Amino acid sequence: MHILITGGAGFIGSHVVRHFVSAHPDCRITNLDSLTYAGNLENLKDIERKPNYRFVRGDITDRAFIGSLFDENRFDGVIHLAAESHVDRSIASPLQFVLTNVVGTVNLLDAARSCWNGDFVGKRFYHISTDEVYGSLGSEGMFTEETPYDPHSPYSASKASSDHFVRAWHDTYGLPAVISNCSNNYGPYQFPEKLIPLFINNILLKKPLPVYGKGENVRDWLWVIDHAAAIDLIYHEGKNGETYNIGGHNEWKNIDLILLLCDIMDRKLGREPGESAELITYVTDRAGHDLRYAIDSGKLQRELGWSPSIRFEEGLERTVEWYLANQEWLDKVTSGAYMEYYETMYH
Ligand code: NAD
Ligand code: TYD
Repeated sequence: MHILITGGAGFIGSHVVRHFVSAHPDCRITNLDSLTYAGNLENLKDIERKPNYRFVRGDITDRAFIGSLFDENRFDGVIHLAAESHVDRSIASPLQFVLTNVVGTVNLLDAARSCWNGDFVGKRFYHISTDEVYGSLGSEGMFTEETPYDPHSPYSASKASSDHFVRAWHDTYGLPAVISNCSNNYGPYQFPEKLIPLFINNILLKKPLPVYGKGENVRDWLWVIDHAAAIDLIYHEGKNGETYNIGGHNEWKNIDLILLLCDIMDRKLGREPGESAELITYVTDRAGHDLRYAIDSGKLQRELGWSPSIRFEEGLERTVEWYLANQEWLDKVTSGAYMEYYETMYH
């Protein structure tokens, strides 16, 4: 068995690669990643020498390259995570999101179809997507697999589009494809442009904590390692043509999450209670900011027996501990181009 994992040097991808390489020693894993600002091979230092692991640097938007990679390796499966993943960047540079998320996904679908050439026995194309394709909820209800797509940001529109192409390849060409849509992930190795690691880094440096709008938006947070376990289950036991929602039934209003994070950081850093919360600064809201996401993962729990393993308070504490123990990692990824990004986005 040989699986191609795309985007394996990123946040979730690195956890998925680590999980598969360790849990399935008989399975060969090729990690394909172009190493954008978000890709970092340091994320995989602990497993890079495992005999069933290999890294290939390459771009999913390059159809010719993807075609030869498939022809040379005859992969049995694909787990596709490579993407541009940050909403704020998608507002600033939408075309890159169309190129990577839409064209890149279609290239992979097309290469898998040509390579497998109708012989789909033992083959699978697994597309990793987001709950943001469903749009925004009011104060009631949850996203199910039947919720109509209603994306609002260039990021979520590009992910929604890629999901449609995956279904089209399944319905038109019979490609054995499965999709999962997951809620916000958190945990080690997340790039400090997303809320939790950005705020951890700013608290460490005593910089302002830029809360968009009134901080009343709600997100449903999932421990990234639980996401990786769900991906393993769906890859091996999910049904082709199906969609599975993944989420932790763990909704937090941004401001409540931020106050909890400030408390944990004060405690861990030996600062006075309330010191980090003083850094909170309300800033102009994100354009098109979705109010609330909440995922109903009942289908995955009922049909495949998955459930989240840890409570959010514990996961957040572990996340903080990881960032404090890995400040060298944080310093490296926040040097150079990061400063330029930060200046453009927040000033
Ligand atoms: P990330 O930005 O941390 O990592 C993306 C990875 O893709 C990076 O390693 C990057 O180098 C690579 N990549 C980007 N463009 C590429 C290209 N053209 N060719 C090859 N590699 C390329 O993203 P993440 O947060 O780990 O998200 C991974 C996937 O999971 C994405 O598809 C995202 O939409 C989805 N997802 C993320 C979340 C979340 O909370 N982060 C939630 C649900 C779904
Ligand atoms: P983010 O981590 O970017 O994930 P997403 O937009 O994909 O849900 O943001 C999580 C929430 O935090 C979202 O409601 C926007 C908010 N947010 C801030 O208030 N300030 C920030 O600096 C960032 C990055 C996010």
